[in-house]
Amino acid sequence: MNLKKMAGYEAAKEVKDGQIVGLGTGSTTHYFIEKLGIMIKEEGLEIMGIPTSYQSFFLAKNCNIPITTLEEHDLDIAVDGADEVDPALNLIKGGGAAHTLEKIVDYSANQFIVIVDDSKIVETLGKFPVPVEVVPQSLRTVTKKLEDMGGIPKIRMAERKDGPVITDNGNFVIDTDFGLLKNPSQLEIELNSIPGVLENGIFCNATNNVIVGTPDGIKRI
Ligand code: A5P
Repeated sequence: MNLKKMAGYEAAKEVKDGQIVGLGTGSTTHYFIEKLGIMIKEEGLEIMGIPTSYQSFFLAKNCNIPITTLEEHDLDIAVDGADEVDPALNLIKGGGAAHTLEKIVDYSANQFIVIVDDSKIVETLGKFPVPVEVVPQSLRTVTKKLEDMGGIPKIRMAERKDGPVITDNGNFVIDTDFGLLKNPSQLEIELNSIPGVLENGIFCNATNNVIVGTPDGIKRI
């Protein structure tokens, strides 16, 4: 059983004709976008998508989902994956380095649905290091500040390119291990107040709707 596919396909049921839909990034959202493409083809669903990355842009194009932008439309609904979800539905995102645009799109939607498999559900956020997108010139100063805050920062290296990951916005990502997060909403704000930080992957108070694929079926929290 593919738990990510279960969650992605379930979320697609929430999308209605005429809506502007935020298209998240990652391997779970992949199935959501795929299902929207099937619904457009087989059921005549009429929507427009706003992608959160080049990955979701190209996938949406392949699935024949008409694309628009935040300049042109407000979002009715956004669906996105997560790397961790805590009991208060706070999230860590950014495993694919797309969290800056994801945050802009997800937070601006009337309804934001998170789709995960049950491995992403945690008691406390923080096993997954917090992704921090930084302007390249600020790498050294931000790294020092993250260390002063008690974090263990590590620049994310690319796998099939020499050197660091470069985000869709042309920046670096510093994955920072803060241990388990006692106060994620405060950390979210503190990180964004460091000069050079564009956005971090903590998403607090963003959603009240999480669809979880489990071996026993869909669960909603
Ligand atoms: C992209 O940067 C991330 O925020 C993803 O949405 C998140 O990492 C979840 O990805 P998967 O669905 O691939 O686990």
